[in-house]
Amino acid sequence: METCVEASYGDHHYLKYKAEMEGMQTKGHIGDNLPAVTFAIFGLGRIGTIHLDNLSRNPRAKIIFCVEESDERINYVRNKWKLMEPETTFLKPSEQEKIFEDERVDAVLVCTPTFTHEEIVLKSLKKGKAVFCEKPLALDDEGIERCLDAAKKYNRPLLCAFNRRFDPGLKTVKNRLDSGEIGKVQIVKTCSRDSPKPSLDYLKISGGIYHDCAVHDIDYICWILGEYPESVSSFAHTHFEDIKQLDDMDTVCIIMKFPSGTLATIDLSRCAVYGYDQRVEVFGEGGMLTCGEQRPVGVRAHNGKGTTAVPIFFSFASRYQESYEDEIEHFVNVCQGSEECSVDGSSILAVSKIAAACEESAREGKTVYLNWGKEQNGVNGF
Ligand SMILES: NC(=O)c1ccc[n+]([C@@H]2O[C@H](COP(=O)([O-])OP(=O)(O)OC[C@H]3O[C@@H](n4cnc5c(N)ncnc54)[C@H](O)[C@@H]3O)[C@@H](O)[C@H]2O)c1
Repeated sequence: METCVEASYGDHHYLKYKAEMEGMQTKGHIGDNLPAVTFAIFGLGRIGTIHLDNLSRNPRAKIIFCVEESDERINYVRNKWKLMEPETTFLKPSEQEKIFEDERVDAVLVCTPTFTHEEIVLKSLKKGKAVFCEKPLALDDEGIERCLDAAKKYNRPLLCAFNRRFDPGLKTVKNRLDSGEIGKVQIVKTCSRDSPKPSLDYLKISGGIYHDCAVHDIDYICWILGEYPESVSSFAHTHFEDIKQLDDMDTVCIIMKFPSGTLATIDLSRCAVYGYDQRVEVFGEGGMLTCGEQRPVGVRAHNGKGTTAVPIFFSFASRYQESYEDEIEHFVNVCQGSEECSVDGSSILAVSKIAAACEESAREGKTVYLNWGKEQNGVNGF
């Protein structure tokens, strides 16, 4: 019996299944008897369809509006997910006001290009909708502050989708750090190399590698450490000619120094030919925790020359599939009132400030020192 309990440790799929089975025998999920949360989704591109797919399988959610610019995307989504009138209405961006005015809409999912986020977030909050918005929340700190102020003023949840906080492996690293397993942390290293290289159309409106990519690593590192850096230094280079034309970079190294003495490094690339390379290493006085190199299947081939495995996950859609499922589940819980929004406003703003400081460091060739205001609580304002 002991062995069975031990063996289930860390098997999050089994633990979820077990919770479902126990729920069936007892009272079920806390939200099962509440009305389904009604959603409007803005943007049916790469990330929008991932969230739509997860929502469509969630019995506590109903998609009643989708807003999308492209007819091709609308037709694809309507047919694939069998989202038909009158249950689900598809609108063009010019018709989006209907959603803000419709009292049936409880929550809005913002999955459009970054430069459109702020307007949709502000209008949704003003009309009393809960908002789930893809990162980054807005193009600059002022825009982010306006969104956070609106969430406070209208007292509605605003979740910025830092999905790595919901990844089972990365979450386990945090839980084990919090339990004191490796003691005081001395060094954190993350590596995030994109695959495939994003399209030029996406890169043009991405907000640049620091605000589009580095924000994920910065958020994750600050979240696991529970503090913000006091100084950052970054170097960057652009190997791809098309990215150079955009005055953006494709290869970045960041060093952050935290008030506790912890040092963190981030290495980023817009294109790794061997797959979507996501690794984390946390080194402390009592040992080291790592998470990385995840593969779609565990098959290995052995021969006289060595052992080969299938490539690592190819892209964010597959590598972080479970994190996307779990963040949507969390947001439905937030909308139903059974959980507090787990990504708080001050950290969304802090991450944006740190990303901007890193970019400033790389562009101007200097270390940038950060001051944290009193609005944040905890170590160094976290
Ligand atoms: N958390 C993550 O892992 C993750 C991954 C990818 C993208 N993102 C973020 O998600 C956002 C979207 O990125 P993407 O890769 O899905 O882009 P995408 O280009 O694949 O999709 C965007 C979609 O929005 C549509 N659109 C454009 N303007 C619109 C408007 N005003 N109203 C409605 N639809 C509109 C486009 O036609 C397109 O289908 C970006 O902010 C990006 O930073 C997050």
